[in-house]
Amino acid sequence: MRPIAIGSDHAGYDLKETVKKQLSELGYEVGDFGPDGTESVDYPDYGIKVAGGIDRGEYDRGILICGTGLGMSMVANRFNGVRAALCNDLFSAMMSRRHNDANILVMGGRVIGSGLSAQIVRTWLETPFEGGRHKARLEKFCNL
Ligand code: RB5
Repeated sequence: MRPIAIGSDHAGYDLKETVKKQLSELGYEVGDFGPDGTESVDYPDYGIKVAGGIDRGEYDRGILICGTGLGMSMVANRFNGVRAALCNDLFSAMMSRRHNDANILVMGGRVIGSGLSAQIVRTWLETPFEGGRHKARLEKFCNL
């Protein structure tokens, strides 16, 4: 797999650093779009960088983390080539891949802890898209 693009805001910074460590332990390369610390920043600036990279085809998969995951989801899903899924639970992480072929995983750094996020990330990376009727459904709204 090509490197995974990752970004956050200040509220997601700590979890971003934890997820980066997990990704490299799992053998993935990471493209870190920032920020570099916990100073207050605006989540759209970082969401746009990661979602733009996916939209332009520079990355296949991305991970975005803000406080709740809500703002990053809204930003990322403005991009035509992005299917961003806010997954603060394991079932959503699995189904976002199986049925929605999500290409950006969004999590809330103020909602979940590092133990759950580690399981979510691994599940999300390892679960394949089922295709078939789910592909036909994606085609109904992707590239509108
Ligand atoms: C930052 O305070 C917070 O608004 C942001 O991290 C995110 O939760 C927005 O949706």
